[in-house]
Amino acid sequence: MSDFSALVTLLAAAATAVALYAFVGGVYRVYFSRNAHIPGPKLAALTYFYQAYYDIYPYQGQWLFHQIELHKQYGPVVRVGPDEIHIDDLDFYTEFAGTSTKRRDKSSTWYWFTGMKSTVGQSAFATLDHDLHAHRRSAMNGFFSKRKVQDLEERVLVHVRKTVDRLLEYKNTGELVDLLFLMSALTLDVISEYSFGNSVHSLDTPDLGAPFRAQMEGGVQLHPVARRFRTIIRFMIEAMGYASKYLGIFKEFKEFDDMIADLTDPAYKKALQEGDDGKNATETSIVQAMVYSKVLAPEEKTQLRIQAEAMNVVAAGTETTARTVGFLLLPKSHDILTDRDQIAVGLFHVLNDPEIHSRLLAELRTVMPTATSDIPSVIELIKLPYLTACLHESTRVAHGVAGRLVRISPNKDLFCNNVKIPRGSTFSVSHYIHHTNQAIFPEPHAFKPERYLGEKSTETLRYLVPFGKGPRMCLGMNLAWSEMYLSFAALLGRVDMELVETTLEDVT
Ligand code: HEM
Repeated sequence: MSDFSALVTLLAAAATAVALYAFVGGVYRVYFSRNAHIPGPKLAALTYFYQAYYDIYPYQGQWLFHQIELHKQYGPVVRVGPDEIHIDDLDFYTEFAGTSTKRRDKSSTWYWFTGMKSTVGQSAFATLDHDLHAHRRSAMNGFFSKRKVQDLEERVLVHVRKTVDRLLEYKNTGELVDLLFLMSALTLDVISEYSFGNSVHSLDTPDLGAPFRAQMEGGVQLHPVARRFRTIIRFMIEAMGYASKYLGIFKEFKEFDDMIADLTDPAYKKALQEGDDGKNATETSIVQAMVYSKVLAPEEKTQLRIQAEAMNVVAAGTETTARTVGFLLLPKSHDILTDRDQIAVGLFHVLNDPEIHSRLLAELRTVMPTATSDIPSVIELIKLPYLTACLHESTRVAHGVAGRLVRISPNKDLFCNNVKIPRGSTFSVSHYIHHTNQAIFPEPHAFKPERYLGEKSTETLRYLVPFGKGPRMCLGMNLAWSEMYLSFAALLGRVDMELVETTLEDVT
């Protein structure tokens, strides 16, 4: 046999071996793996590229809606990936979320950025292990407690007053104001001050901090791609200085990373300088709270790790709340004009319905008699049942966290509708699907504050979980509520708005 034909034979044998390995591996995945008993499309069981088809190309961002179709076909528990199970069962939510003793890890198939040096890789949010997450989070819990948020209410109010002033600047100018940008500027200024003791002052910029928003959006859009091409993307991001300089990619990512580093550095150094002698330790920022933390292990207090935590808090605390208030608060008025495209989310729901609008305003006027009255405190606003119901409904329809939440039960099998979810398998839920459940939220796409006022309100509220549940639920929930109450009361109570040329189609 010539050398050439020997080489061809060898290559053919290698190719056959690879094909056989892939075939046997594929058959094992679909028919014999620990998730084989779970109903779902065979292609999804075979490869995660099934999800990519609906998430990246050709159907960009359509996976969530495809999941709804899968549940109609296969039931409440569906295998949506080789090792991922998606669940649509409202009563399973508490079990999904776990407790401090019912361990819930996160899954690396979803959290592609876990452990990275840049971005939020070292944050509690990105921590897969249940115990390490609890340890990291414990250093921040106190700073976001009800009590602390109440003590720091004036910080939120300063920015809320400025937001109203910025909005009123547009009065009678005929200029468009993008309210989503305005609300993002508010929430970004609040959370940056919380994190670093120093706001980024986006409300003071002419474009309302638009570049920050673009930076954060860049990160969000990367997720589906990064989940599929994890190693490459992780490598490129870790080397993003070069990627952004020489390839022109990850520019926004790099800018966001640099901005957070620039804000963390002085806050961190100041905290170290002041020291925790009981006199100077005022705990005025998250960075400070972490540096002074008595519970965090020393290796958890490095500048890089605290920076990751701060970055996550800024990213998680900006768009979520802005979107929720925006959903409720989107004016297009004769005095104040808003950008048509951004009408997609906002005050629309209140202004679109004269009955809701006048009922809400009448209730608000009991604590804020005129447009020039002081903005009431959260303690006063919380007592207004209709306002509270409107805010609850807004958290439902705004879908602050639109992507799915993903967990693993590492040492115990779980059961949902008698279907076993094997220990170690990744399982997920989607708030969009949860909060549009017809049985609990009839006419799910309609804005109906009365859901939370009538006879069934207790049951409805039981299923309303915009901030999640369990040990990994939203860290900033109390702050978000404070921002929502104050900004909503201020905008509605101080600015006279009415919708122009906007219909329900603009927001659905
Ligand atoms: C209406 C506004 C908000 C909504 C709907 C919301 C929703 C959520 C949800 C559902 C989670 C759980 C994610 C998961 O299970 O993987 C979460 C986590 C988180 N949220 Fe929020 N959030 C909001 C505002 C905020 C604010 C203002 C902050 C600022 C501190 C914040 C900080 C965080 C952090 C740090 C986490 C990660 C917690 C952890 O992993 O332990 N969120 N949020």
